[in-house]
Amino acid sequence: PTIHYILKDSTTRSVEAKAGDSVMETAIRHNIRGIDAECGGSCSCATCHVYVADEFLAKLSPADDMEDELLDGTASERAANSRLSCQIIVTPELDGLTVRVPETQV
Ligand code: FES
Repeated sequence: PTIHYILKDSTTRSVEAKAGDSVMETAIRHNIRGIDAECGGSCSCATCHVYVADEFLAKLSPADDMEDELLDGTASERAANSRLSCQIIVTPELDGLTVRVPETQV
């Protein structure tokens, strides 16, 4: 599946993701700037915050309590489409998923 990352300078990087990887892991693997992922994906740092394109929101499993709590502490303001990219697992159905990197993660 292809994942599109909209970077801070508004350019888009489109990369081929492996099903089973998280959107965060895919970003790290492809050197996407703006996703820090300090905790390495254990859902405890909130520095992998992204804004998910609206048309994909319904395809994601909803945030659990821990993610929901962390999203309240993101460096860039939380929006209705805010998610932690380490909690989004790539599946074939998510082909074309578009996420925007926030202004800042720290
Ligand atoms: Fe730390 Fe996602 S990588 S919460």
